[in-house]
Amino acid sequence: MSEPKKLFIKTYGCQMNVYDSERMAEALGGQGYVETKSADDADMILLNTCHIREKAAEKVYSELGRFKGLKAEKPDLKIGVAGCVAQAEGQEIMRRQPLVDLVVGPQSYHRLPEMEAKTRAGEKALDTDFPEEDKFEKLKNRPKAKRGPTAFLTVQEGCDKFCAFCVVPYTRGSEVSRPADRILREARDLVERGVREITLLGQNVNAYHGAGPKGEMTLAGLIWELNKVDGLERIRFTTSHPNDMADDLIEAHGTCDKLMPYLHLPVQSGSDKILKRMNRSHTSDSYLRLIERIRAARPDIVMSGDFIVGFPEETEEDFQATMDLVEEVKYGYAYSFKYSTRPGTPAAERAQVDPQAADDRLQRLQTLITRHQREIQDSMVGRTVRVLFEKPGRLPGQMVGKSEYLHSVHVVAPEISIGDLREVRITESGTNSLAGALL
Ligand code: 5AD
Ligand code: SF4
Repeated sequence: MSEPKKLFIKTYGCQMNVYDSERMAEALGGQGYVETKSADDADMILLNTCHIREKAAEKVYSELGRFKGLKAEKPDLKIGVAGCVAQAEGQEIMRRQPLVDLVVGPQSYHRLPEMEAKTRAGEKALDTDFPEEDKFEKLKNRPKAKRGPTAFLTVQEGCDKFCAFCVVPYTRGSEVSRPADRILREARDLVERGVREITLLGQNVNAYHGAGPKGEMTLAGLIWELNKVDGLERIRFTTSHPNDMADDLIEAHGTCDKLMPYLHLPVQSGSDKILKRMNRSHTSDSYLRLIERIRAARPDIVMSGDFIVGFPEETEEDFQATMDLVEEVKYGYAYSFKYSTRPGTPAAERAQVDPQAADDRLQRLQTLITRHQREIQDSMVGRTVRVLFEKPGRLPGQMVGKSEYLHSVHVVAPEISIGDLREVRITESGTNSLAGALL
């Protein structure tokens, strides 16, 4: 038998890309590839790119430039670009960087095996279509390998919201939900392979409306079905839009035992003027009232969010409204970004805020968020949480896992195995994690 070919995938960006990279590795596994951790000994290098941050495409081009020497040494090496930069740039990538053999957009990963074969025949392969078929269904020939205790599962892709700053509706296309039976089958398969916690992924996951046995199913409906899967202990989902927080989903947070008390619900700004300019179609008040309802259903829920500061026309007063909103919500986690233009999006054409003012605002916002994050983490001391253990820690006999609130928890207890779910009494709160003892 010939030596297996080696595949090196570098993944950028969001959890959906992590999930996609796993699926691509499995698909190419069928072509005789095994994964390697180093580009140097690879027969194929795939960059799974992200377009959300500034100058994303430029960074990909400079990364590709670094493979020149490797390709000169190894003419059979194939280089591919996947993900949202592939979608956005398309053929331009091969024109600007001729060493690229393959460009594949996120909706075409099921076509990778054929595309790989094409590159082996010495041709270039490009596919950035938005085909109708379910790529994950076509990507199914995966081995029954054991897995770690946590996994992502994509249930929905794309977005029809068109926030004025965002490239996702262009790179991932319009909203598509996978049918519920396929998701449930995949979930059961993951559980058989050792998974105990599943995070449902979607750019607009709470807009999920996949086909179910009795017509369309909501995300809450899907979560209730997953709740019945034996051996699955925890369910999470991300990322949600405030306008799609349906009543049944809010209610599930109070009644569904496997649904974890953590919710990532980006608001982006606390100023109604800016929210309007962002095309968010919610106000700061409607968002705050929504959180009140969520907290009424699940009082201990930990909230998380995303913020953009320095969006075009943001004044100091607008920014103050964001600070006020953060003060009111108190996020357990939050991600804040300085606005930067994405070519092709509506906001890219508008007058930009002074970069220094934006930097200053970002710093003030991050200081406030960090303070709340720390307070919420510290408030766990003395409480008992349930921890799903994921990996060994740095100290001898130490294990690390996540609480239901997504805090990292360290415990020294050699009897714990990866995948164990145990009650832990929290004794200490460090910079980024908690420590405790088994009950
Ligand atoms: N500039 C800054 N941040 C952005 N995000 C998306 N697009 C931009 C942009 N052009 C942020 C949003 C989103 C998160 C994933 O990235 O806060 O929720
Ligand atoms: Fe982008 Fe999210 Fe807005 Fe959709 S809802 S356009 S993914 S920021």
